[in-house]
Amino acid sequence: MNLILLGPPGAGKGTQAKILVESRGLAQLSTGDMLREAKTSGTEMGHRAAEVMNRGQLVSDEIVVGLIEEKLEAPHGAGFIFDGFPRTLAQADALGALLDRHGQEVDAVIEMRVDDAALVSRISGRFTCATCGAVYHDETKPTAKPGVCDVCGGTEFIRRADDNADALKQRLLEYYKKTSPLVGYYHAKGLLHGVDGLGEIGAVSAEIAKVLDKL
Ligand code: AP5
Repeated sequence: MNLILLGPPGAGKGTQAKILVESRGLAQLSTGDMLREAKTSGTEMGHRAAEVMNRGQLVSDEIVVGLIEEKLEAPHGAGFIFDGFPRTLAQADALGALLDRHGQEVDAVIEMRVDDAALVSRISGRFTCATCGAVYHDETKPTAKPGVCDVCGGTEFIRRADDNADALKQRLLEYYKKTSPLVGYYHAKGLLHGVDGLGEIGAVSAEIAKVLDKL
């Protein structure tokens, strides 16, 4: 099964993708994570992308489609969760063509609906484990033991450079301008399923599971 998680910054795409990896054995493909890894590994592309990301703008279609193309070369039995990709109509067309080349298709698109006020508080409280990437929140999902990652026991945590008020404003603008047209695009293809992303993490997972079980 190939699944797209669509939603604005902070909607909970990464959180739900990790739950689906555990519950359904799907492989998570997050273009945001791939771009941050490229920066950490010191590549020229990574540095250029980081400047764009810190401003809250979208990285070029060419770069992100190239990253996804590489990942699709290694097949994954159960399928993929596309987290934060596609983000433009051009990326959506490219994904369709890439999957088609591998004899596959998009099976469902989950649109996670969350209002802007909730997004601001989610983004400003987010922190992740520097070792395993587990995602936490100061108020809604703190670590069980303060300062220790529940998943790997790591004690170092990071906050993203683009999780600030100015960058978030730009990220939201980019979402509404360039990514939200994908709602109509996938609706027209009969693939769109909306879920209320405002509920608690477990409630959102249950709603997504209900959609997937009906496919
Ligand atoms: P990316 O890393 O994809 O960021 P994003 O889309 O802005 O999404 P986030 O990771 O901020 O949020 P999320 O929806 O995953 O929420 P999360 O689960 O963490 O992209 C970053 C940048 O990279 C882009 O701005 C762009 O520059 C570039 N980029 C990436 N892909 C690109 C592409 N395809 N094309 C071009 N450029 C691209 O949750 C957020 C917080 O809320 C967490 O603290 C979590 O614990 C908490 N939370 C989650 N769910 C709930 C809940 N139900 N209730 C309460 N709290 C919750």
